[in-house]
Amino acid sequence: MLFSITLLLAAVPVALGRHDEYMVLEGHDVREDYHSPLPHTYISEDELPDNFNWGNVNGKSYLTHSLNQHIPQYCGSCWAHGALSALGDRIKITNSSKDEIDLSIQYVLNCGTHMAGSCHGGSHTGTYQFIKSKGHVPYDSCMPYMACSQESKEGFCQYVDTTCSAANTCKTCDTFAGMGGACTEIDYYPNSTISEYGTYSFMTSPKDIVHKLKSEIYARGPVATGVNAEPLVKYEGGIVTDTKLWHMMVNHIVSIVGWGLDEETGNDYWIVRNSWGQYWGEMGYFRILAGKNSLGIEMEVAWANPGSFTVNNYPCFENGENCVKTAYYKDPSKDLDSLKLRLAGEKTKKGGVRG
Ligand SMILES: *[C@@H]1O[C@H](CO)[C@@H](O)[C@H](O)[C@H]1NC(C)=O
Ligand SMILES: *[C@@H]1O[C@H](CO)[C@@H](O)[C@H](O)[C@H]1NC(C)=O
Repeated sequence: MLFSITLLLAAVPVALGRHDEYMVLEGHDVREDYHSPLPHTYISEDELPDNFNWGNVNGKSYLTHSLNQHIPQYCGSCWAHGALSALGDRIKITNSSKDEIDLSIQYVLNCGTHMAGSCHGGSHTGTYQFIKSKGHVPYDSCMPYMACSQESKEGFCQYVDTTCSAANTCKTCDTFAGMGGACTEIDYYPNSTISEYGTYSFMTSPKDIVHKLKSEIYARGPVATGVNAEPLVKYEGGIVTDTKLWHMMVNHIVSIVGWGLDEETGNDYWIVRNSWGQYWGEMGYFRILAGKNSLGIEMEVAWANPGSFTVNNYPCFENGENCVKTAYYKDPSKDLDSLKLRLAGEKTKKGGVRG
């Protein structure tokens, strides 16, 4: 009964409020595309630590910087923020690059309008399919976020060209126009590919969703996921425990970066990154009860692994020739020995705390 009701709620995209940013577009027809075994098939529940957060692994954060989708003007691009920040985090986790790598959300808004989304909504899985089918996504320094897409009439959007073109994929401007400057496209630019992506849902695995998600997050990194944004608008910190059925309808996309155990109640909670700025919530994050599909948080979970990404470029000239060298993504979950070593380390930590 419970599941048939939630199924109904999930299937009908009702515009109940201001936040209606989760939308699966017509061009998005491949929700999953992967071949590697999923981490819960080789990590048991009791191996996993009680507390784990990619924002603080032995004092180091593996998360890319916090974002705000709502400026310079309002744009409903949560789906691109959730999808690309989780992907960027997975690159950061590999330690391959000294510098943080942020991926271009504006490129997806410019070019992914039929598959991924626009300022008027989209999907995380559509973003992953779009990048995988296009071949790559440029780094953010090619095409920074402007909070505009072709249909948006908000703020300055009518004055900026957001059509999909080479110049709106990666570009530079050499000096002021009055001094003879011009803006030109860059044809070879640092970029990341996607090798695999997939989904998890409370609908198909209500009992072991926590084990599946913890394993995925621990072994490979943050995931993008849906949530109902309305009850979060006035969130002031703490653990959200709302399990009202009518609050489980997903209309917003965020990213789960870790979990914790609430000592008072004995309940697990997720640590979730939002894209409403650091003045919102707990420095831009919120915590929410795990395993009960609170606000629909476990309904629409998606993950993606990078394929190759640029870590070393040749200084680009304006014609953009021969700008890049290649590195390949090494999925940390494939190194079972070091994964088990990390997990064994958690056991010692647990023992330490309890004993
Ligand atoms: C990244 O580097 C840290 C040390 O700074 C190390 O503890 C961690 O295991 C490395 N991660 C991977 C995936 O190699
Ligand atoms: C993307 O980066 C790879 C290296 O990681 C490079 O070989 C390729 O040419 C780049 N693509 C574009 C369009 O610049």
